[in-house]
Amino acid sequence: MASWTNRFEVVSHTLRHYIGPSRRPAATVIRNSNHFQASLMQPVISISDLTKTYPGGLKALDNVSLDVSEGEILALLGPNGAGKTTMISIVCGLVNPSSGSVTVAGHDIITDFRAARSLIGLVPQEMHVEAFESVRATVTFSRGLFGKPRNDALVEQILKDLSLWDKRNEKIMALSGGMKRRVMIAKALAHEPRILFLDEPTAGVDVELRKSMWELIERLRQTGVTVILTTHYIEEAENIADRVGVISKGQLLLVEEKNELMRKMGEKTLTLNLREPVKALPGGLDGFDLTLEDDGNAIVYRYDTAAERTGIGRLLSGLSGAGIGIRDLSTKQSSLEDIFVNLVRDGR
Ligand SMILES: Nc1ncnc2c1ncn2[C@@H]1O[C@H](COP(=O)(O)OP(=O)(O)O)[C@@H](O)[C@H]1O
Ligand SMILES: [Mg+2]
Repeated sequence: MASWTNRFEVVSHTLRHYIGPSRRPAATVIRNSNHFQASLMQPVISISDLTKTYPGGLKALDNVSLDVSEGEILALLGPNGAGKTTMISIVCGLVNPSSGSVTVAGHDIITDFRAARSLIGLVPQEMHVEAFESVRATVTFSRGLFGKPRNDALVEQILKDLSLWDKRNEKIMALSGGMKRRVMIAKALAHEPRILFLDEPTAGVDVELRKSMWELIERLRQTGVTVILTTHYIEEAENIADRVGVISKGQLLLVEEKNELMRKMGEKTLTLNLREPVKALPGGLDGFDLTLEDDGNAIVYRYDTAAERTGIGRLLSGLSGAGIGIRDLSTKQSSLEDIFVNLVRDGR
């Protein structure tokens, strides 16, 4: 219980930090490419005070502001109905915002729609593919939709990258679900977007395809493409994202570099298995977040990984001073999943 309270304080501190009156500062992701650093000056997507109320009154997005830097991989993490698809649909011009504004490389998505949209590739959550077309024709046609000249070499490269080249002449309806999804990605890449939105790219796909999707996203990033993906697989964000945004009930609860998020909000527990069970915690250890567990056979210490000192040395000498012998010990760090679950629960 004590640790829960601690966690809540860390969370609400972080929320205060992010939901301030001013816009969030741009990301400070450092990468080895000069191109990326130079382009950090200006966000490639800038979302300001975006709100969407659907007819009928449901507020799917509530005053969301977010900057995305060129070349980063941003994962939007949130439960079903959080507003992720709504947000993507607005940026892609498929849904009208109720208020607020979005620019893509400086182009307003409403007044300068064509320029903004031409920079974006979208792989929607729902698959719509032309069942009777061949793979290659579909992808080639998708490029034409954006007014780009035919480029067979590029389409060939995309199909090869996605392991679809062998299937290029197959009708789409003959493909497996995983391959159809890859066709969707090929379509989105066909017009050489600078920004790629992937809405739940790995929902319902097998582990192998998920891994190959992650590799593909990494390769895209190496070519300078900005990737924004939504997911409710925390493991996915943990594996591939540079930054993680947590969205719940239309509100962006926080956006943070993944490593920083895990460092800041991560909690570690140290479990000390005792030689002999004890009836109570020894005195003289005030200030330590300790609990007695396993029928008095274990003492569990929860501590903040971001703290300057963990206090473990002092704890161990305190216990030995109290005559408590330790048989074994182990530590465990909270995962992004723990952090996420707590955040969404607190956001309710
Ligand atoms: N066209 C629509 N009309 C009315 N409500 C909608 C529409 N699209 C989505 N919603 C509602 O908006 C909320 C957010 O939906 P969505 O953006 O799809 O969330 P997510 O992608 O995070 O699951 C949900 O409550 C959903 O039911
Ligand atoms: Mg969705």
